[in-house]
Amino acid sequence: MVCLGNICRSPLAEGLLRTKVNPKMVEVDSAGTAAYHIGEAPDIRTIMHARKKGLDISKFVGRKFSVEDFDTFDYIFVMDHSNLHNVKTLARNQNDLDKVDLILNQISPHGNQDVPDPYYGGEEGFEQVYRLLDASTQIIAEKIDNGTL
Ligand code: 4NP
Repeated sequence: MVCLGNICRSPLAEGLLRTKVNPKMVEVDSAGTAAYHIGEAPDIRTIMHARKKGLDISKFVGRKFSVEDFDTFDYIFVMDHSNLHNVKTLARNQNDLDKVDLILNQISPHGNQDVPDPYYGGEEGFEQVYRLLDASTQIIAEKIDNGTL
């Protein structure tokens, strides 16, 4: 799960997907394309919003996406077109490129929609992001379960 800062959208996507898959079978992680928040906990507003829903993401630690992630992970879900561009720029070959997609294409295939960045907005932005990521991680988990991802 990849966003810009790895403090708002992608840690929430990571936390949500972790609750929906078998941790012995599926490795889930998140990263940012920017280095601003390396080593930091998620944004307090994201932590509090997730907590309201019963999800604890307070121990997650921000890190930057690196080219090695293409070797570690089978799928790389990005939150918006800017993340898509930044991750694709690091791809070494077609196999790397094929791993990357906008996460909202899970809800609306080929819709190419962005998960809006809630960083500069209000509380309603965090709820919108939660709903979008809850729905898309649910679809990802179901596809992992039935082998169609
Ligand atoms: P995220 O949100 O990419 O969903 O983690 C942001 C976090 C930090 C900044 C921008 C977006 N920032 O500019 O520091």
